[in-house]
Amino acid sequence: MTSAKHQPLPTSPMQSELIAGLSRDRKHLPSKYFYDARGAALFERICELPEYYPTRTEIAILRAHLPTLSAQLGPQRWLVEPGSGSGLKTRLLLEALDQPAGYVPIDISAAQLHSYAQELRADFPQLNVRPLSADFTADLRLPPGVERPVIWFPGSTLGNFSRPDAQAFLRRLSRWGGGAGELLLGVDLIKPVEVLEAAYNDPAGVTASFNLNLLRHLNREAGCDFDLSQFRHQALWNPEIGAIQMFLISQREQQVQVAGQSVRLARDEAICTEYSHKYTTDQVAQMGQAAGWSLRAVYTDPKRWFGVFHLECV
Ligand code: AVJ
Repeated sequence: MTSAKHQPLPTSPMQSELIAGLSRDRKHLPSKYFYDARGAALFERICELPEYYPTRTEIAILRAHLPTLSAQLGPQRWLVEPGSGSGLKTRLLLEALDQPAGYVPIDISAAQLHSYAQELRADFPQLNVRPLSADFTADLRLPPGVERPVIWFPGSTLGNFSRPDAQAFLRRLSRWGGGAGELLLGVDLIKPVEVLEAAYNDPAGVTASFNLNLLRHLNREAGCDFDLSQFRHQALWNPEIGAIQMFLISQREQQVQVAGQSVRLARDEAICTEYSHKYTTDQVAQMGQAAGWSLRAVYTDPKRWFGVFHLECV
């Protein structure tokens, strides 16, 4: 009989994913693990930073153009949101819509989804809220009766996908309404590199804390032993791919335990933790076109820093 003591601990899918990302030549950790409770709170603080323009710019665009947009959409539409709620933005949209038929937030975390649905029901007592617990990046079926969905994907979350994956995701979305429906897509636009880099390198260090918190989350949830003091935050514009990339830079040569496996990091070695792709309005229109969507309108701010794209399924 083998003693249980010497059996290796089973590796979870999350742990295998981390080991795979850290075994590559260019080390990588998945950005989806930024958002534990602390990470979500840090992201809220990022949105308040003077340097981080996307959130407030998108909100300003919505405030300026929602009456027009709502008239374009017409009455009794279903609002469908991959991701459970973008706070104020979703509330502004729900308030502007003409007698919405209902609202379908989609999130993989059932707990988060249900508390969010309860909050919304309290704030919008007339609204039919039909939460759907699912992975919105996989194939998915909307609840029966949800026709001609208005899919709402704000916040430039699309930027976290590589360009090919972003197009594939838009193609998936085009199937949700069975060939009908519209998409409201918020995308951060290409602009001077100083502005882009400043948005991810705030002097208050909130983005650095957000980036480092990923390691804290992995220590707790995946049995890692990252020493946060041995990493520093870096964010750079990568002109080759048109994206801001965030990194954690190893401050010295070190060994890290990841689910019982040892990973070696060289001094100054970078782990990429996030891509935030930026687009021109033409690029979004082209990518949408290639994914089954035609552009009806683009709403933007006076500096053209952010775009809210209204696309229609073709
Ligand atoms: C929520 C993914 C759109 O890419 O700008 C903010 C996340 N990362 N600061 C972004 C983020 C660092 C944000 N997204």
